[in-house]
Amino acid sequence: MAVHIGMSYHPELHDLLWRARDEGLVDFLEIQPERYIYSHFERGQMKRLLSDFGTSYCFHFACNSLGSADYRLDRNARQRRDIVNRLAPRWCSDHMTSCRIGDFDLEKNLPLLRTDETLQILVENIKLFQEGLAAPFLLENIATMWELKRSTIAHDDFFARAVEMADCGILLDLHNLYADQLNHGLDARAFIDRMPAHRIRQLHLAGGSSHDGYYYDGHDHEVPQVVFELLEHLLTRVTPEAVILEREARFKDLPRVWDDLVRIRGMCQR
Ligand SMILES: [Fe+2]
Ligand SMILES: [Fe+2]
Repeated sequence: MAVHIGMSYHPELHDLLWRARDEGLVDFLEIQPERYIYSHFERGQMKRLLSDFGTSYCFHFACNSLGSADYRLDRNARQRRDIVNRLAPRWCSDHMTSCRIGDFDLEKNLPLLRTDETLQILVENIKLFQEGLAAPFLLENIATMWELKRSTIAHDDFFARAVEMADCGILLDLHNLYADQLNHGLDARAFIDRMPAHRIRQLHLAGGSSHDGYYYDGHDHEVPQVVFELLEHLLTRVTPEAVILEREARFKDLPRVWDDLVRIRGMCQR
């Protein structure tokens, strides 16, 4: 099975993405629909963009806050589901996080307190979101700024149990695992090995940087060598459907973005 190579859309990447598509480096686009769905004009803009690119696409949400106990009260949830059902992306994903209280968006992915109770909340919310959804739903691991000491379940167990219980796929972000390894001593390889292989459908790769002893998942640098080694390790065990390169800042460094795409494609085609 061929691995599809995708890239997250950003206006600054427009020319690079179109060129990468023409040269067979990129097979599909990942787009964050929340940036477009709340106005008629922007929805039209997103549809034009997707049809102009002319490949399949996936929707990567950041606002569902699936770990929140008040998810059912989210007034915009219906709009997010509607856009999936109307445009039928090939996959759709969101994060294992709580990032909103009521209508107030924290604009940060907060780690969940990993207990049986929060696991139940997360699983119920994922089931609710993916019920009747016109695309397979994938849950992504976040990079956490801190760990909550009162968690009673290990990170990898919690994530693996959540996707099994909710019966959804995994979007495994290897750069987030790398950041957690540097910041909190997570064993990234053990985390990969603990995941149910048949559920790993997509991967995210990205780069970040260190400031004041902390490694930030900034999506602003080339993919670190260690992340490529994690990819190599994962590919010995799983063939994901798609690998996506994420880039959201420092666009003067575009030749390195291109190099990363070439390297990712080369590794996935072997
Ligand atoms: Fe993400
Ligand atoms: Fe990611």
